[in-house]
Amino acid sequence: MSLVRLEGVAKHVILPDDSRLDILRDIELDIPAGDHVAIVGRSGSGKSTLLNLMGMLDRPSEGAVWFRGELVRRMRRSKLDKLRGRNVGFVFQQFNLLSGRTALENVEMPLGYASGRAFWTRRRAATAMLERVGLGHRTDSTPEQLSGGEQQRVAIARALVRRPALILADEPTGALDVETGGSVMALLDEIASEADAALVTITHDLHVAARARRHFRLEGGVLTPFELSAPAAGAAAAAAYERIDIAPELAESVGEPRSDGAGEAAADRIEVAS
Ligand SMILES: Nc1ncnc2c1ncn2[C@@H]1O[C@H](COP(=O)(O)OP(=O)(O)O)[C@@H](O)[C@H]1O
Ligand SMILES: [Mg+2]
Repeated sequence: MSLVRLEGVAKHVILPDDSRLDILRDIELDIPAGDHVAIVGRSGSGKSTLLNLMGMLDRPSEGAVWFRGELVRRMRRSKLDKLRGRNVGFVFQQFNLLSGRTALENVEMPLGYASGRAFWTRRRAATAMLERVGLGHRTDSTPEQLSGGEQQRVAIARALVRRPALILADEPTGALDVETGGSVMALLDEIASEADAALVTITHDLHVAARARRHFRLEGGVLTPFELSAPAAGAAAAAAYERIDIAPELAESVGEPRSDGAGEAAADRIEVAS
């Protein structure tokens, strides 16, 4: 079943000098429940704008966004907020945790708006989620006392504590070193699969993109599918590095340095953490 669907979606803004900036053009994207999609593109290519449309935080200039078969623009504000709070979990590059609040308070926060049982059992749910991300011993630590990787694990726990059907991750490893980023992504993947949530990861890192089942690139506001053969998944492979081939134009579209040495094969070789 289709979870979120974008149909002929375009986004433009009018700049102060009255010129029009086309950020997204004619986007067609259908994400079924439990899917894992990666979208790659250079900085400024419209990735966050696209993610905000999928997360129903923003409205398209043209076209339609559907969530579980319902047209988002027909929904009342209150219903939309509720639907989003209940079904969408966001993970950001800069973690966006509340400073001075403990990990437990941060993870509990989304459940503060829940009703009934989910509200009353929020402490237990948040504790369990922190245990799930390997931070059961750090529930009382504030973000200031945690490393970048740990903060992102808290942010993942916060995004998942309401068991959302859709997880939207905007450059989740952008502020982490390669190794920490790899383990954070492995965790995000695992938890998303366990919960049967759809995961959309926005990244300019092909290592990260390789984990997804389907891949798209965003360039000049146009979304195009591409093939990126994911290395064997699984915990055993998590620490391993594998080499995969990507087409040169893709390397360019994500801003990877390319080697143009004579005698090189047609494709660039990029190191991909599996
Ligand atoms: N509200 C806005 N007003 C003006 N320009 C915007 C607005 N939102 C996004 N943009 C521009 O649209 C482009 C795409 O932005 P964004 O989606 O944040 O890209 P990405 O996440 O891929 O870096 C950028 O050039 C950005 O400056
Ligand atoms: Mg962005």
